[in-house]
Amino acid sequence: MMLPKVQLATTLGLLASVAFAQTSTKCNPRNGTCPPDAAFGTDYTFDFSQGPSARLWEETVFGTTYDTQMGAVFAIKKQGDAPTIRTNFTFFFGRTEVHLKVATGQGIISSIMWLSDDLDEVDYEFFGSHPNIASTNIFGKGILDYTFGKQHTVSANLQDDYHNYTTMWTADALQWYLDGVLLRTLLPGDAANGFKYPQTPMRMSIGVWAGGDPRLPKGTVTWAGGVTDFSKGPYTMYVRSAQVTDFGSGKEYIWGDRSGSWQSIKSVP
Ligand SMILES: *[C@@H]1O[C@H](CO)[C@@H](O)[C@H](O)[C@H]1NC(C)=O
Ligand SMILES: *[C@@H]1O[C@H](CO)[C@@H](O)[C@H](O)[C@H]1NC(C)=O
Ligand SMILES: *[C@@H]1O[C@H](CO)[C@@H](O)[C@H](O)[C@H]1NC(C)=O
Repeated sequence: MMLPKVQLATTLGLLASVAFAQTSTKCNPRNGTCPPDAAFGTDYTFDFSQGPSARLWEETVFGTTYDTQMGAVFAIKKQGDAPTIRTNFTFFFGRTEVHLKVATGQGIISSIMWLSDDLDEVDYEFFGSHPNIASTNIFGKGILDYTFGKQHTVSANLQDDYHNYTTMWTADALQWYLDGVLLRTLLPGDAANGFKYPQTPMRMSIGVWAGGDPRLPKGTVTWAGGVTDFSKGPYTMYVRSAQVTDFGSGKEYIWGDRSGSWQSIKSVP
């Protein structure tokens, strides 16, 4: 979920920094020369019931713990909490399969997000307020265009158990699956003739945040399903495993020019 920067600036410091952590970039390759991205170049399943993977994932917002039964545990215990982890590496076209149990709580958002250096973004988000709805969205090149967000009603209660959230991504299509059922296919042609189609090396973030924090813009709180009552927490999301498949096989991805197009990305073997 990308928040408008103008609105963000008006929110309080802590929350703003949380939201910025999700939607900012150290170096935007569309704006200058940036270092190459470390490539995953492989396929691996991270089993979080075995503990954290400190070498390949970093904690972007503090607070994730690990449990041998539940896997990675992301708990919102108080206002401002938003535990989030992110891969250290990128994948350039690929597939992720996350087995996740959605957090309860009004306004609480369980989130799987991919983000690239130039702010291409792919979202797969779930609501504490609506246990039967999955939300999908994209942003291209950091452009704030909210027309790509979709909600999908499913028969399962996503808060009752772990479900399989798989996203498949090629130059030709982006597809979101829930428990093996295809929810959505987005084609480049659906996204400003490909200009806004996510197409650059991605890091995956997994985290939970309170879209219902009353300090956030009203539109965000409404989208999230209402104001969060932090006294009724903790609100906890669980992730048992995350498989990442990089369709590329190199060591690094180099940004060849400032276009932000997939054709400009060079894979270093
Ligand atoms: C590009 O750099 C300028 C100057 O530092 C900055 O104001 C602008 O926001 C940057 N644009 C992007 C897309 O990062
Ligand atoms: C991954 O993240 C950890 C924790 O922030 C850091 O110590 C490590 O250097 C990173 N590794 C790579 C390859 O970037
Ligand atoms: C999860 O869903 C994906 C997409 O349908 C499927 O390929 C995969 O086999 C599923 N994983 C499990 C463990 O069933």
